[in-house]
Amino acid sequence: MKGIILAGGTGSRMYPLTKVTNKHLLPVYDKPMICYPLEMLINAGITEIMIVSGRGHAGHFLELLGSGAEYGVHITYEIQEAAGGIAQALGLAEGWVDEEAVVVILGDNIFQDSIKDDVAAFSGGAKIFLKPISDPHRFGVAELHDNRVVSIEEKPKEPKSDLAVTGLYMYDNHVFETIKSLKPSGRGELEITDVNNDYVRRGEMQYSVLDGHWSDAGTFDSLLRASLLVQKLRKADKSE
Ligand code: DAU
Repeated sequence: MKGIILAGGTGSRMYPLTKVTNKHLLPVYDKPMICYPLEMLINAGITEIMIVSGRGHAGHFLELLGSGAEYGVHITYEIQEAAGGIAQALGLAEGWVDEEAVVVILGDNIFQDSIKDDVAAFSGGAKIFLKPISDPHRFGVAELHDNRVVSIEEKPKEPKSDLAVTGLYMYDNHVFETIKSLKPSGRGELEITDVNNDYVRRGEMQYSVLDGHWSDAGTFDSLLRASLLVQKLRKADKSE
């Protein structure tokens, strides 16, 4: 399996911080944000990793991560010229992915769980990772029936469950065909939720509910929350 970190978008919500660097390089406690999804992939045994970034301060990723040699992996870079959506950013990786399956992480998502076993066990279709939360309307929300995902809604006003779809996805190679069939949403983006619903409709969507903490870090408040969470986890690790 190959790994992809999606770090495109304009970072406009985080202005003026993003005037001087890319959103995904802002600090989350003691490390740049992108190090968290990168380490998650590395810990799962993934060694071929692509970072898709927007144009803004894209060179800063190279300065931080280089070829990936320091981490014992190989990092490839791709540029998403305009923020056309998460699914559009993923589509840019098609040639590099070749025939393989992919694990995709949004560059502003911070997870505590390991996905090593999920990567080892993945055998086709798609898999999403859910987390029960108190404010699901901010995210994609999954509706389950008899332990199956029956629908996913993007930022619903009246969520059908408290299960947020986190920014971590596994797909077989069919995902690139699905992306080519998408139409832009009301906000003018190719939506990852539409990709996921295509797998749901075809009866090929698996899910898992995460045990550990999860936070996005794409707004001032969630960035602060993510930093405090990592600080708490580090302190707990030290006292063990
Ligand atoms: O955080 C999880 C949520 O992420 C999911 O629950 C939603 O279903 C999913 O749509 C997404 O929602 P957001 O509205 O939070 O996505 P946002 O536009 O903030 O983008 C999140 C990351 O995705 C961003 O840090 C980089 C990447 N991205 C986003 C866009 C719009 C790209 O690489 N390219 C893009 O064009």
